[in-house]
Amino acid sequence: MNKPLRIALTKGRLEKDTVGLLEKIGYDCTSIREKGRKLILPVPDGNLEVVLAKANDVITYVEHGVCDMGVVGKDTIQEMEGKFYELVDLGFGRCRFALATKKGQSFYGGYNVKTLATKYPNITRKHFESKGMDVDIIKIEGSVELAPLLELADGIVDIVETGTTLKENGLEIIEDNICPISARLIVNTVSMKMRQSEIENFVSLVEKNL
Ligand code: PRP
Repeated sequence: MNKPLRIALTKGRLEKDTVGLLEKIGYDCTSIREKGRKLILPVPDGNLEVVLAKANDVITYVEHGVCDMGVVGKDTIQEMEGKFYELVDLGFGRCRFALATKKGQSFYGGYNVKTLATKYPNITRKHFESKGMDVDIIKIEGSVELAPLLELADGIVDIVETGTTLKENGLEIIEDNICPISARLIVNTVSMKMRQSEIENFVSLVEKNL
């Protein structure tokens, strides 16, 4: 038997749905569900090995070919712009990018350059460039909603799923649906050539079970 195909899965919000999909296909995911602190997880009899990683790292591992495939959000793909194939829209992990400010605060208008906090500086820069609007961008790693509350920024560009985080922190969307997001299956370009039939087989199983 060949060495197993290695797939990097994004930890956190996509994890449950991704494992659910693998189980629907028929893979035994006990090792993932009961992983403890183990980082490389074999899927018995599936000729598949799972790596759990942060979204940005999923892209890094797939781009460098140390993982053949990955499951990651379109938000991270757009922000990082790596070189790999994006083969399947998995349909889960749906959310969208939005611009939000403190409730009642105006954003567009006035002459001063606005400051935006975001985990996605490239997406934010491109969006405002396309409007011909000059903005200052501050990169924040987590809970970006804090930035306007602490008066570090006039607003945030972030992913919104249910809207609960914004609501609970007194923020409101002033521009919605900047772009729609969902989880994608990505594949390393060399693996796609060298292990084409195995990957095509995996992709067809994925597509049949969406
Ligand atoms: C994301 C995002 C918001 C929140 C939105 O963060 O940055 O904070 O989810 O979800 P909601 O609209 O359903 O409230 P995530 O939970 O991925 O964690 P992070 O802040 O650690 O990146």
